[in-house]
Amino acid sequence: MAEPDSILVNDWHPVVELEFLATRDRFATVLLGVPIEIAGSGSGEVRVVRRDTGAALPVHIEYGHVFTSTGEPTRDVVHFPECHEADRICVAGGSIAVHVSGLRAVENFLDMGHFPFVHTDYLGVEPYTEVEPYQVTVTEENEILATRCRFFQPLASPSADGGMMVDYEYKVCRPYTVCLYKSNPIEPERWDFIVLFLQPVSEERCIAHPYLAYLPHNLDNETNRWFMQLIFSQDKPILENQLPKRLPLDPRAEIPARSDASSLAYRRWLIAQGVTYGAIPAAA
Ligand SMILES: [Fe+2]
Repeated sequence: MAEPDSILVNDWHPVVELEFLATRDRFATVLLGVPIEIAGSGSGEVRVVRRDTGAALPVHIEYGHVFTSTGEPTRDVVHFPECHEADRICVAGGSIAVHVSGLRAVENFLDMGHFPFVHTDYLGVEPYTEVEPYQVTVTEENEILATRCRFFQPLASPSADGGMMVDYEYKVCRPYTVCLYKSNPIEPERWDFIVLFLQPVSEERCIAHPYLAYLPHNLDNETNRWFMQLIFSQDKPILENQLPKRLPLDPRAEIPARSDASSLAYRRWLIAQGVTYGAIPAAA
């Protein structure tokens, strides 16, 4: 197994949902191959330590999760303004362990082509299977941005009451952090927002930590959480059946049908940043 890349070691990663931590005194997990323990207290104080050496690790609380780092973070957790807008309903979507590289989970999150087949009658339905061309750019902040994505969805969100063409934008902010903006059925000039943080447990295991910032119409936290868990429970077996479990970065490694524009851009972007953890590096 490869050593984790310094770009990942020296960054923040989510390791437990706050509400879950509140139901117990301590919780053990693994981050980038390092066994860690998170301890909460009634006063809200959170401590994270390595289980192998006992060393204390840094703590950051945001987006309904405890974040930590096994190195020395050189940048903050990504700032998402939508999650701080007062009228939105924000809730953690429920953490789900997946036996696959977190990079595979990011790629799957970017892929609209699977909607009619994996999320049938929710995020897609036959015969509306075509992914129309969309735009992919890398921003000045070195994020991958996919815009003008459109897809027909029978039940796009908990507040939809029928099928509609849905506009999407996707952004990959960090190697293991991806988010989407989705047109809202009631307030079309604003976007519903979902971010998916992947905790790299090992190169072939991750824990998905979604966080949702929906516009408030007819919605409540329980419904939003239920909908996210329903959708992700459909993705989990598909992801776990992918072979190899690490993401091949060589553009010729997989059949182009699934390697659409954002997937190719993501693989190129990972190569450019020297990310190898959770990946099968491209041949030199
Ligand atoms: Fe999916």
